[in-house]
Amino acid sequence: MSIAWKLLASPALRLIDSERAHSISIGGLSRIGESAVGGSILNRLYKSPELPIEVFGNLFRHPLGLAAGFDKGAEALLSWSRLGFSWCEYGGVTRYPQEGNEKPRMFRANKHRALVNSMGFNNPGASEVRKRLIERKSADKWPNSPVAANIGRSKKVSNDQAADDYAATLDHLWEYADIFVLNISSPNTPGLRELQENDYLESILKSCTGLKERKETTKPILVKLSPDSPDEILRETVSISIRNGIDGIVASNTTVKRPPPLSTQSRKAFANNGGLSGRPLHSRALEVISMSFDESRGRIPVIGVGGIDSKDSAWEAIISGSSLIQIYSALVFNGPSVTSSIVKGLKDRVKESGFSSISEAVGYKHI
Ligand SMILES: Cc1cc2nc3c(=O)[nH]c(=O)nc-3n(C[C@H](O)[C@H](O)[C@H](O)COP(=O)(O)O)c2cc1C
Repeated sequence: MSIAWKLLASPALRLIDSERAHSISIGGLSRIGESAVGGSILNRLYKSPELPIEVFGNLFRHPLGLAAGFDKGAEALLSWSRLGFSWCEYGGVTRYPQEGNEKPRMFRANKHRALVNSMGFNNPGASEVRKRLIERKSADKWPNSPVAANIGRSKKVSNDQAADDYAATLDHLWEYADIFVLNISSPNTPGLRELQENDYLESILKSCTGLKERKETTKPILVKLSPDSPDEILRETVSISIRNGIDGIVASNTTVKRPPPLSTQSRKAFANNGGLSGRPLHSRALEVISMSFDESRGRIPVIGVGGIDSKDSAWEAIISGSSLIQIYSALVFNGPSVTSSIVKGLKDRVKESGFSSISEAVGYKHI
């Protein structure tokens, strides 16, 4: 772990209240990473190698991005590329501002390198996020790497109204992201996962792809899956998504399942309601990536996320079918140097395997 991370965020992350630790480190990052001097220091410390791949018509410097939920309000967009990520996903953003669930709502299980969270889409709402992003663009503080926006359903909106709610947020943010992810799989908004049922799903997809058709610019819209859905539902979700013009799949969100606890801290963390992320999620995330790749037969890209924290777990995600990958928990447990070490490791694996580019390795396990 680097000196800068030790000074910047690691002491904060050791606090018992994990959410406060998180907001301190985000606050520090947005101040340091967004300034010209701080940004260039971070850039030098955490620069990751090049391993280019073209996905959704965008060129990514390498496949590794920041997963949704870390920068919910799009406060530190410049920092992520300076910490070595080739792209980032802000949000989840909902149409209406939300406080989220009661605190505490984020817990660590260090022995498992896992987090449990029940945040519940705390975010300033689509109008406020849009306002911030307009200011950011006009202040010339827009990253020159791809930016994705994660969209959730507002808590006060029923599933019957969900299609309009998603489309309204998409409309608000259309000019302020290159890629959109429809999150129908968070465990922390009551009823949200029911949106994976056919009728709701089709109406959400139709209203969002309908909006896309009315826009002058075309942008990819992706669907994020739950690892807790049965395999046949996941396959069906992928095929309904493709039929309705969805451009990619994100596999996957957090799980409500728990592994057997390895310590008292883990037992306490796992006893809380919410979604588990980090290392114990990895094997199921790989299954969901593989299934999505197989079901789509490579027609639309899959983005792999869940328990990636090393070159080996990243490589497994790529050969299982991920064109791009993301991390959240590994950033908390390992600090930002994990980004360059994963990308460097992937670059070595590409070379050792005799591929001429990382795109040749995508889905290789299925050949
Ligand atoms: C505190 C926290 C908040 C999250 N918020 C969101 C969110 O708003 N939208 C979303 O799609 N995923 C959210 N996620 C899920 C992550 O994007 C990712 O899918 C999950 O953490 C698995 O990746 P990891 O094992 O690398 O952490 C959140 C995860 C955590 C830990």
